[in-house]
Amino acid sequence: MRKAYQLGFSNVEDELVIDKLNVTGKLPNWIEGTLYRNGPGMFKAGNQHYRHWFDGLSMLHKFTFKNGGISYANKFLQCKAYHEAKENDKISYSEFATDPCYSLFDRVKEIFDPKITDSAKVNVARLGGKFIAMGEPSLQIEFDPETLRSLGVYTYDDKPKQHITTVHPHEVDEQVINLTTRFGRVSTYRFMSSSKRERPELIAHHKVKEPAYLHSFGLSPSYLILTEFPYVVNPLKIIFHAKPFIENYVWKPKRGTRIFIFDRKTGKLVKQFKTDPFFAFHHVNAFEKGTDLYFDIVSYPDPEIIQSFYLDRITSEEKKLPGGEFRRYHADLSGKKEITYRTLSDEAIELPRFDYNHYNMDSNYQFVYSVGVNKSGNSSFYDQIVKNDLKTGEAKIWYEENCFPGEPVFLPAPNRKSEDDGVNLSVVLDEKNGNSFLLILDSVSFTEIARAVIPQPILFGYHGNFYQNDQ
Ligand SMILES: [Fe+2]
Repeated sequence: MRKAYQLGFSNVEDELVIDKLNVTGKLPNWIEGTLYRNGPGMFKAGNQHYRHWFDGLSMLHKFTFKNGGISYANKFLQCKAYHEAKENDKISYSEFATDPCYSLFDRVKEIFDPKITDSAKVNVARLGGKFIAMGEPSLQIEFDPETLRSLGVYTYDDKPKQHITTVHPHEVDEQVINLTTRFGRVSTYRFMSSSKRERPELIAHHKVKEPAYLHSFGLSPSYLILTEFPYVVNPLKIIFHAKPFIENYVWKPKRGTRIFIFDRKTGKLVKQFKTDPFFAFHHVNAFEKGTDLYFDIVSYPDPEIIQSFYLDRITSEEKKLPGGEFRRYHADLSGKKEITYRTLSDEAIELPRFDYNHYNMDSNYQFVYSVGVNKSGNSSFYDQIVKNDLKTGEAKIWYEENCFPGEPVFLPAPNRKSEDDGVNLSVVLDEKNGNSFLLILDSVSFTEIARAVIPQPILFGYHGNFYQNDQ
């Protein structure tokens, strides 16, 4: 197996606290704050291996920029799935695509009381001033932003066992909006809104027989956008836990993809479109121009991308990852029934980011940063960072042989001269040296400014966010 995959899909046991990382290059002195990242810290419990990239147990990382230097710490998310895996030396909770090995007795018990993971591994968010590690099962874990210690469970909704949530909430006007799915004989998509003081409140909902797997949703100034791919599940299979979570879903392309548009103020379904079948994890941005609604999304012709993240498939290197097509959908809400799209880039992308704090729902937004697979390289996993210019259609690439960058988080420079004046931060696995580094890219030229070296590998992670000290 390629060394990068041995490193990136392994176990990292050491929890480090390093006051000052070795930095090459020159750090911009205006960066002050902390990048928190979430992702897998172990893919193996005893002799048992997790099967899928989305299975590994959560580890949190923090990179704090202060006084011209960077400190680093990492810690496993303290949760039942982690503790029991360590204590029992085996996989003990059901993850995205891996179940524990059951005895017949356990199998029956599992039907009535499934041990769904509480290892909230996918993203971090700050909800009502609390730092939350987020996973798709509705059990989220609050953590201490200084020590990374877990502080307890945070839920969006009651009966969390019957829910899943997206790990991409929107933050707007001091409200946090997220989309959950409640499984039942009839299931319900539920948009929840919460603020600092209040418990989450239901702001829109839609009942459905066979809910789809939804990883994100769109938000425009007036609307909630639910893109329902035809990758759906008989909810009883989730409730009675027939198979590992994602393996209960079935691709039904004849259904097409349905797009539901809800009014944010009234919660009413104002428009519904049906279009050709496609699948996506990530909505990017959405905005309106008069009665025209636009939303950007990284799409695939089918959910093959989920299959391609099984570890045996990545590490066998037989196939490249399916490329995410960056699309802009356009709907005329004044009457037309069709929804159309155009492709925004020739480059395939994934893990898209933009300057959310300043350009969310803004039709003038111009730059999107993401990862991709280099066309002339030999990798079967993400090995480059892409910057898309939506005005010119051009793309810039950061690529270094034998390096595997993760999601690039953008930080704007103070008093910037253009939208892209700032830096991108990306955790990169360095195959040659057997460790990882934090790459600091100049976002305009898309060239390296500095890198801070971590003395061990950081496994291939998912999402993270940067918080300034005064935010
Ligand atoms: Fe995501």
